[in-house]
Amino acid sequence: MILDAFRLDGQVAVVTGGTRGLGAGLAVGLAEAGADICVLGRTPAVETGAAVTSLGRRFAEVPCDLLTATPAGLQAAVGDVVARMGRIDILVNNAGIIRRSPAIDFSEADWDDVLQVNLKAPYFLSQAAARAMAPNGRGKIIHIASMLSFQGGILVSSYTAAKSGIAGLTHALANEWAGRRINVNAIAPGYMATDVTAPLRADEQRNRAILDRIPAGRWGASDDLKGAVVFLASPASDYVHGTILPVDGGWLSR
Ligand SMILES: NC(=O)c1ccc[n+]([C@@H]2O[C@H](COP(=O)([O-])OP(=O)(O)OC[C@H]3O[C@@H](n4cnc5c(N)ncnc54)[C@H](OP(=O)(O)O)[C@@H]3O)[C@@H](O)[C@H]2O)c1
Repeated sequence: MILDAFRLDGQVAVVTGGTRGLGAGLAVGLAEAGADICVLGRTPAVETGAAVTSLGRRFAEVPCDLLTATPAGLQAAVGDVVARMGRIDILVNNAGIIRRSPAIDFSEADWDDVLQVNLKAPYFLSQAAARAMAPNGRGKIIHIASMLSFQGGILVSSYTAAKSGIAGLTHALANEWAGRRINVNAIAPGYMATDVTAPLRADEQRNRAILDRIPAGRWGASDDLKGAVVFLASPASDYVHGTILPVDGGWLSR
């Protein structure tokens, strides 16, 4: 029956940056669908762990700072996941940072840091995960893209470059790995109320301009992504490859 195809019982999902914000909601959503969760990040994910275990799912954490992680370090982190959890079925590349500054003044450090966390780390983590998934004959990799995978944004040029890169990577990796039965897709959240967007919501003018453009008339919440992530992580999406699914309250349709 079709609803059974959305279940994730017995599967292991790795979520980067599952401490707070969208990553915490994504991890809990996957656990609600039946998955065991491993959070990969630099800070203990205490609340996420409590939420996952209260659902009766297994929870583990693998420490990893994506700002300094090398490809070899990310390969080792995936090895730790498999050692702790037994397997890896789903990878959600969620962790991300943003730096705001006019492009005319943008620093090399702000360029490098954002590209490292938002593009290079997801690439090499996907590579490591795919190596572990391939022998199982299936796997699901889900990138967290952005409206700035499609648009230019304001004062966030390195973020836009990275998120546009994530869109390209979603297509490129889907092309290469669909034949191995590894699905690579992305979710593009719209404007979501988390720490990353706190400065925008604190700026009355920006907040009003953003809200005026969202047909749904409100900022998104992490719960709004649960349906999309469970779909893309589950057998229900087995023939979906290389898609970027906006969950944006209609922003892109404006
Ligand atoms: N909020 C939005 O409107 C929006 C819209 C589109 C896309 N996105 C994307 O959605 C994802 C999550 O964003 P969010 O809004 O939930 O942001 P957030 O609340 O700031 O959370 C960011 C997460 O990334 C982790 N992280 C940051 N730097 C890291 C590092 N060096 N190593 C490991 N983990 C690191 C953070 O961990 P710590 O707790 O350790 O800092 C945290 O768990 C990002 O990729 C973001 O670009 C967000």
